[in-house]
Amino acid sequence: MTTRSVTITDNATGKSVECPVHEGNYGAPVIDLKNVYKELGMFTLDIGYASTAACRSAITYLDGEEGVLMHRGYPIEQLAEKSTFLEVAYLLINGDLPNQKQFDDWVHVIKMHGMTHEHLSRFYQGYRYDAHPMSVLAGVVAAVASYYHDTTDIYNPNDRRLTAQRVIAKMPNLVSKIYRYGSGLPFVYPDNSRGFVENFMYMMFSWPTEPFVANPVAVRALELLFILHADHEQNASTSTVRLAGSAESNPYACISAGVATLWGKAHGGANEAVIQMLQEIEKPRNIRKFVDRAKDKNDNVRLMGFGHRVYKNYDPRAKIIRKACHDLLDEMHLNQPMFEIAMELERIALEDDYFISRKLYPNVDFYSGLIYQALNIPTNMFTPMFALARSAGWIAQWMEMLSDDDFRIGRPRQLYIGAKQRDYVAINSR
Ligand code: ACO
Repeated sequence: MTTRSVTITDNATGKSVECPVHEGNYGAPVIDLKNVYKELGMFTLDIGYASTAACRSAITYLDGEEGVLMHRGYPIEQLAEKSTFLEVAYLLINGDLPNQKQFDDWVHVIKMHGMTHEHLSRFYQGYRYDAHPMSVLAGVVAAVASYYHDTTDIYNPNDRRLTAQRVIAKMPNLVSKIYRYGSGLPFVYPDNSRGFVENFMYMMFSWPTEPFVANPVAVRALELLFILHADHEQNASTSTVRLAGSAESNPYACISAGVATLWGKAHGGANEAVIQMLQEIEKPRNIRKFVDRAKDKNDNVRLMGFGHRVYKNYDPRAKIIRKACHDLLDEMHLNQPMFEIAMELERIALEDDYFISRKLYPNVDFYSGLIYQALNIPTNMFTPMFALARSAGWIAQWMEMLSDDDFRIGRPRQLYIGAKQRDYVAINSR
């Protein structure tokens, strides 16, 4: 890391502070503000952390202006074409792609951790059959903590590694049980003769009385979605996992906090919201009217699946997934009227000055919901699918944070705009 510096001067007092500037390997340099309060008695205000780097990280790099996304230096396009979800998870956690022996060991260890404690299955019964799957997921992920008291010493690298393996291995099992419970179907144990994604489909969709044969096109489509969702730098849910982890919290509770954040429709909940929006539009002839509502500041409608805090160019994941979406629908001979509406909506929005001038492009969620739908995954299960994949990134980022020499609790400051000091008045005098 090379350093230069920036001087910040308080024009009112003439006091200055020299702040070191750190340069990473890519991206904007960052100004280190830790001495600003000490020297000037001021904090910095950056609502929504739009210009604040909250950590150093070597996992994922993205350039929103150029539409670039890389994990550990590997472009997402290459990983999407050539890799598998488990290999990407290994890469995120370990920093390099595995050799054959390392990969075989990794696959084996993930299989060995795929079961959940039998008592955990009873947690599901506490939920109503129609509970939102993200609510159930937040609960059952946190519940995993109760089975591993002896192996969650966050300062022990072996415990951290074991926790990462358990999180990645158990998520498909935990997620599939949510669907099975809501559908009145018996839970299914993992089948270790199957690959990671196929095994997940088996736990989700197999019927107790029938052999289960997965459609390879569907398996590959889901694998691709898992790869594309595995990590995405310091987004809201990842930052939540880091913040919770910075308080030295239990790792499963931290992942549960990530699930809670991902649930929001401005974040992971958008894929579900896209389908609801397309259903609301109903017919191609209603698209223009809907787009007009999204542009109207007096109407709180937004085009779901459009826009991104960081990407001000085409989301590179959306480019990959758009093609996969076409291929899947062609190969499975599905005629999806909803897909037609989506394509027409995309065309109209991309030619509209409102969206062009604000650099609002379709994001990954615009297409992922369409693929999930083609795979018969119910709409309310879309965000848990996202969480399943993102758990690899969450746990990798959590591990990285704990091994950072500068690790300390995250504690933002505030600009207080509330009432000035006043005296308590008895209730009968107010
Ligand atoms: N439809 C219509 N207008 C939009 C949209 C949209 N989807 N997104 C942003 N805008 C407009 C805003 O109204 C604003 O207009 P203005 O400058 O005239 O006031 C301008 O574009 C900038 O928008 P911001 O809200 O400042 O952008 P921000 O970076 O804060 O928000 C976000 C990003 C939350 C993703 C937003 O674009 C959005 O709500 N999109 C729809 C939800 C969605 O798809 N979320 C998924 C994100 S990807 C993910 O989490 C995996």
